[in-house]
Amino acid sequence: MSNYSIKNLEEYYQVYRKSIREPENFWEEIAEEHFLWRKKWNNVLSWDFSTPQIKWFEGAKLNITENCLDRHLINRGDKTAIIFEPNDPAEEAQHITYTQLHERVCKMANVLKDQGIKKGDRVCVYLPMIPELAITLMACARIGAIHNVVFAGFSAKAVSTRIIDSDCKMVITADGSFRGNKSIDLKGIVDEALQDCELVDKVLVVKRTNADVTMVEKRDVWLQPLMDKASSDCKAELMDAEDPLFILYTSGSTGKPKGMVHTTAGYMVYTAYTFKNVFQYKENDVYWCTADIGWITGHSYIVYGPLANGATTVMFEGVPQYPDFGRFWKIIEKHKINQFYTAPTAIRALAKQNLSFVENVDLSSIKVLGSVGEPINEEAWHWYNDIIGKGKNPIVDTWWQTETGGIMISPLPYVTPTKPTYATLPFLGVQPAIVNENGEELKGNQVEGRLCIKFPWPGMARTIWNNHQRYKETYFSTYENMYFTGDGALRDEVGYYRITGRVDDVVIVSGHNLGTGPLEDAINEHPAVSESAIVGFPHDIKGNALYGYVTLKETGESRVHENLRKEINQLISERIGPIAKLDKIQFTEALPKTRSGKIMRRILRKIAENDMSNLGDTSTLLNPEVVKDIIDQRL
Ligand code: PRX
Repeated sequence: MSNYSIKNLEEYYQVYRKSIREPENFWEEIAEEHFLWRKKWNNVLSWDFSTPQIKWFEGAKLNITENCLDRHLINRGDKTAIIFEPNDPAEEAQHITYTQLHERVCKMANVLKDQGIKKGDRVCVYLPMIPELAITLMACARIGAIHNVVFAGFSAKAVSTRIIDSDCKMVITADGSFRGNKSIDLKGIVDEALQDCELVDKVLVVKRTNADVTMVEKRDVWLQPLMDKASSDCKAELMDAEDPLFILYTSGSTGKPKGMVHTTAGYMVYTAYTFKNVFQYKENDVYWCTADIGWITGHSYIVYGPLANGATTVMFEGVPQYPDFGRFWKIIEKHKINQFYTAPTAIRALAKQNLSFVENVDLSSIKVLGSVGEPINEEAWHWYNDIIGKGKNPIVDTWWQTETGGIMISPLPYVTPTKPTYATLPFLGVQPAIVNENGEELKGNQVEGRLCIKFPWPGMARTIWNNHQRYKETYFSTYENMYFTGDGALRDEVGYYRITGRVDDVVIVSGHNLGTGPLEDAINEHPAVSESAIVGFPHDIKGNALYGYVTLKETGESRVHENLRKEINQLISERIGPIAKLDKIQFTEALPKTRSGKIMRRILRKIAENDMSNLGDTSTLLNPEVVKDIIDQRL
């Protein structure tokens, strides 16, 4: 018998030890008992972190949508699978049952086939948080097409880069999206993106805002009429365990975004099993994750993990501040949410508001509170725990990444005693290591260093689309025989982990990963700019904000004209998206450099943080004199 749902700490330790001692038996039991396979695997795991090659459940055949939909039809056909809560609270929420969801996914899968999509084709999805988004993901999975969701806040340039990199044949978008009191012209953004690439021959358009859009003849088609005609009978394509399920891009510190490739069987087993345990989901619970499906959190914990467990999952189209800062709490009350999963940046923003937003609603349905995306600071943790959880609902501070596919370090609610700001213990089967800069593992407790993982887990990304070499270099070359996360961490006296933040040039702003390299590339395109360096600095709500140091080609005061800051941020908006705008831009005569010409970001980071006490030895710099000027003119 597998231990699918862990009940207490003793059981956790016992099962954890087993998962480490005999990982293959452990995962095999979970996989065997809780999923629908069309053919069993020949081999549970083969791996080699040096190449790197990782395969789980090799030889197995399955379709993830049969696990998320078909197998629930008998016992949960009338159960609500998705609750859709629209942006406007006056618009009625939709409750989509498993039977209805199955039907819509099958119809959409047939539409995709009719429009020429075949197994293995890549489909770019640029949609707001409406049911069609979840349906599209599963429609792709149904026929073996690889979805590539691009968050609908990214710019046209960011969309086209991703379409080109993964060679997408089709884009699925909407006429527009509602966000708070704004509506965004998604179709216009797609049109602009497609000017740069000719790979896409079909654009399916969902009607959402009724905005006036231009439909390009032969290329653009409204989705609904095709759905109305489509058959609701669609046999699930038989997929190999290691066939790609999706590509999802994440920023790197330099270069273009990395298309992380997740495969079918391991991802399914891992997201389902983590969902069950980290949220202690029970049959009639209503679960809500506030993330957007454009990020991994939405893929794994709005769509696949919950649906594989036959859960009721909420999709929210709007934003926390619309129509007012009480929206999240009202939704919890309205749908009697039992598990609520959000990001520290939202918690901090909501904690700043008047308490009456929270006091006038009934939050008694809550059983578990989750946090994800960045370290949660002590103050936010306590507010979440005391005000939202009333001190009785455990907070699961879940650490993981786009690359890990699912939650890696987290308390299990009602099992693991929580500790503010600590993600606590590794999930079952996860073998973390803390290493020092020389790559030596720091064993025992009370150590701090860089966080690595020593052994494969089923949900890990298998490669970077079209760039296996980069996958190897980014994750498996820093430390021998280990996956390097890019995060710093410490382990306390009882073995609890606390994530201390990124140790590379990625800054997490409002929970979004932003590589500083690509942002600098965008700024440097400005004709007046000579070079730039971007660093993060602490921000009350966003966690981190961006501070840019920019040197211009011309020297002297007159060069800094009024609009320059605006133009620089405009460029960033166009190249990446508005989420990446800089909070502060300081024009400097020069940037501090090492003798080999490398920008000394460590110093710039300290100055941006207003921590001048510990700048280190600046005398080895090529141009130590610029440091004083930069400090004097600090914003
Ligand atoms: O630095 C860690 C931070 O977010 C990074 C991963 O970002 P992304 O791939 O966008 O995935 C976010 C959602 C899973 C990590 O390398 N991070 C994520 N969760 C936490 C966290 N940092 C501290 N505590 C967390 N709970």
